[in-house]
Amino acid sequence: MKEQHFVLFFQKLKTLQRRKKSERIIDFSICKLWIYLSQIKAVKGDLVMLNVKQVSKIYEGKVAYRALTDINLNIEEGEFVGIMGPSGSGKTTLLNMIATIDEPTTGEILINGKNPHRLKKDNLAEFRRRELGFVFQEFNLLHTLTVEENIVLPLTLDGKAVSEMKEKAAEIAETLGITAILNKRTYEISGGQAQRAAVARAMIHSPKLLLADEPTGNLDSKSSKDVMRMLQEINQKKQTTMMLVTHDPQAASYCNRVVFIRDGKFYSEIHRGDNRQAFFQKIIDTLSLMGGDGHDLSQIRV
Ligand SMILES: Nc1ncnc2c1ncn2[C@@H]1O[C@H](COP(=O)(O)OP(=O)(O)OP(=O)(O)O)[C@@H](O)[C@H]1O
Ligand SMILES: [Mg+2]
Repeated sequence: MKEQHFVLFFQKLKTLQRRKKSERIIDFSICKLWIYLSQIKAVKGDLVMLNVKQVSKIYEGKVAYRALTDINLNIEEGEFVGIMGPSGSGKTTLLNMIATIDEPTTGEILINGKNPHRLKKDNLAEFRRRELGFVFQEFNLLHTLTVEENIVLPLTLDGKAVSEMKEKAAEIAETLGITAILNKRTYEISGGQAQRAAVARAMIHSPKLLLADEPTGNLDSKSSKDVMRMLQEINQKKQTTMMLVTHDPQAASYCNRVVFIRDGKFYSEIHRGDNRQAFFQKIIDTLSLMGGDGHDLSQIRV
């Protein structure tokens, strides 16, 4: 096999030598362009949005508790990654450290190349506001405000003009199908609508990384699918990097990759490919293999 490659290489060299000088210059330029393009691709391919390096977490208390051990995780720009594992396996602990709500005991977390845990308090608040978006199981909307006022809240903190805020709210509300409820109070809307409003609020400032902990945990099957479809659409259209913690295999099947953790340690990961239904089955198989407390499989929605 190697000999054949050598023969082909020398044949190519001979034909190049036979060509006119001008043709050789064109060949050389094409070659340089090709190297340049492959370099761009290599740099782009290497764009890691989230880099979790050897992270461990011990909760100090009367009795110290080790919740995570040596977690390594890279999420590239534009990826949509699900985190699954039995109850108590450390999913929220991991998410909270990435969300800068809590700090790792050892190891390092880089978001878009920066370590937020090293920032001063004011800079950290700004970093969170600009780079991160959060969606939780409890929608955390403010009941005294309308849906629209809730959605624009992150922009109010940045002191944006009212007209700009309204324009952005209208745009994101359309993507999420909640235009008709913008003027309603949050107690007048359904759970599915409330979670879509929460997603709109998390997305309105175009964060680089969206973090979601059980975003479908309080929703029925249809609303859950709607929210996941919309997250998937935003991920594809805006290339927002997303990390989603969930017990729900149906929700996880909308991700491109699912990482499983058990007892605070990395267990395995699987990639989606083209067929979501096949991926859903693979997720269930992995959860069954993992065992755990059965909590995950009891929540399967088909
Ligand atoms: N503040 C804390 N102090 C002490 N231990 C904690 C604290 N928070 C979580 N733990 C423990 O760490 C472990 C991991 O908790 P975590 O909330 O990360 O699990 P989880 O995978 O998100 O579980 P679930 O699926 O039930 O939400 C659990 O055993 C939990 O009891
Ligand atoms: Mg949790």
